[in-house]
Amino acid sequence: MTDRYAVFGNPIAHSLSPRIHAAFARQTGQDMVYEARLAPLNGFIDALEAFRAEGGKGANVTVPFKVDAFHYAQTLSERARLAQAVNTLKFEGEHILGDNTDGAGLVRDITANLGLGIRAKHVLLLGAGGAARGVILPLLQEGPARLFIANRTPEKATALAAQFGALGPVTGGGFDAITGAFDIVINATSTGLSDEMPPLPGRVFAPGALAYDMMYGKETPFMAFARAQRARVVDGLGMLVEQAAESFFWWRGVRPETAPVIAQLRK
Ligand code: ATR
Repeated sequence: MTDRYAVFGNPIAHSLSPRIHAAFARQTGQDMVYEARLAPLNGFIDALEAFRAEGGKGANVTVPFKVDAFHYAQTLSERARLAQAVNTLKFEGEHILGDNTDGAGLVRDITANLGLGIRAKHVLLLGAGGAARGVILPLLQEGPARLFIANRTPEKATALAAQFGALGPVTGGGFDAITGAFDIVINATSTGLSDEMPPLPGRVFAPGALAYDMMYGKETPFMAFARAQRARVVDGLGMLVEQAAESFFWWRGVRPETAPVIAQLRK
């Protein structure tokens, strides 16, 4: 029987995930379908329960339900537990497992697709919300020389740094506490949505630095700023496809090829 998967979010109409997973399924010959489902803002769990009752095997979860999914899962991966957010659920009979593949997707895009090492690099992470928290552990596992988390509300950045401090060289503070130059600057704030610019000091990019915006589909003020500073600018489309591949692998046990899918979506 054809296995069923879905992505839940609100809004969800413009999600690329159904296209990505359909491409993965075709490529690997998996008998599955994957759809987008709009969940009411106060009805995420009901929507998931309905999907499970229909025989759903797993789900992706996107904005604004990742924390709800974290609480809903009965068993969590280490990275989901630390992120306090779940973007992938797997239903095994009555059992609900939760994972977070966002950070692995980011790391894979930077290392495998862009060919850049994170080991011994100076990494600046902008933002301390859900998107930022989801990538801290996978970044630290790559062994950067330092990870500085900068946030508009400094206390949130210092709290995250304290939480993850035992796992690697991570510190945090406000944007005005950013010092030195960074090899990799990752924008995990929501500023791109509102065409705002995170308040960066003039010089944050080391020569040849990577400026990575988790947003995709449009040029954000962060990207324009980084371009003007001669950084290498990359959007979050690769991360999107890579996190999907991680989810697909967890569900199906097969690792799809991501490069052709990224190329197709960029057309
Ligand atoms: P997400 O799940 O996308 O991370 P979030 O949890 O609401 O969304 O977090 C949004 C992030 O963008 C936060 O780090 C927020 O900073 P605060 O913690 O100070 O709110 C950041 N952010 C949003 N608008 C911003 C702006 N205009 N300038 C700087 N940072 C901004």
